[in-house]
Amino acid sequence: MAYTAKDYSNLIGIEGFSETLLRNHFTLYQGYVTNTNKLTDSLAAMLKEGAVSKPEYSELKRRMGFEFNGMRLHEYYFGNLGGKGFLDRSGKLGRKLAENFGRYEDWERDFKATGAMRGIGWAILYQDNVTGKLINQWINEHETGHLAGSFLILVMDVFEHAFITDYGLKRADYIEAFFKNIDWAEVEGRLK
Ligand SMILES: [Fe+2]
Repeated sequence: MAYTAKDYSNLIGIEGFSETLLRNHFTLYQGYVTNTNKLTDSLAAMLKEGAVSKPEYSELKRRMGFEFNGMRLHEYYFGNLGGKGFLDRSGKLGRKLAENFGRYEDWERDFKATGAMRGIGWAILYQDNVTGKLINQWINEHETGHLAGSFLILVMDVFEHAFITDYGLKRADYIEAFFKNIDWAEVEGRLK
């Protein structure tokens, strides 16, 4: 059964993100959902037809990592926006960030620096599912660099489409605006 795109129109009106930027971003996200559904159907049809040894099958398989992650990462991203950007540093997540990075400020500096890296992709705060440790990681495009089995805690889109409409090339200003709108309750709820 086809997967349905989630509705994030509740985010319209958040400070620092214009309606045009957000609506275009929702449309891009919906494209990933459509393409993931299409790919799923094409692969199932090829399996039925016995076409699994064709190069087209291999290429579609590879493509799934791009489309599926493009879909799911946007859901984490929109899902961790819409808050007031206030993190209680004495709470579970605040304490854990300080514990893992020395102090909260060092975590923030590292996460922002990860997001400011040249290239298109994502900055993600992960929790290692084996050790429970928190790790800031860069993802190239949507599918390269994921930490196997780890949980996604905070997800920030740094493709140009996420900010260029409102901030031009000033990615650092966008990152500041992103931080002002983090829904930390949602983020903390993702901790295991
Ligand atoms: Fe995006």
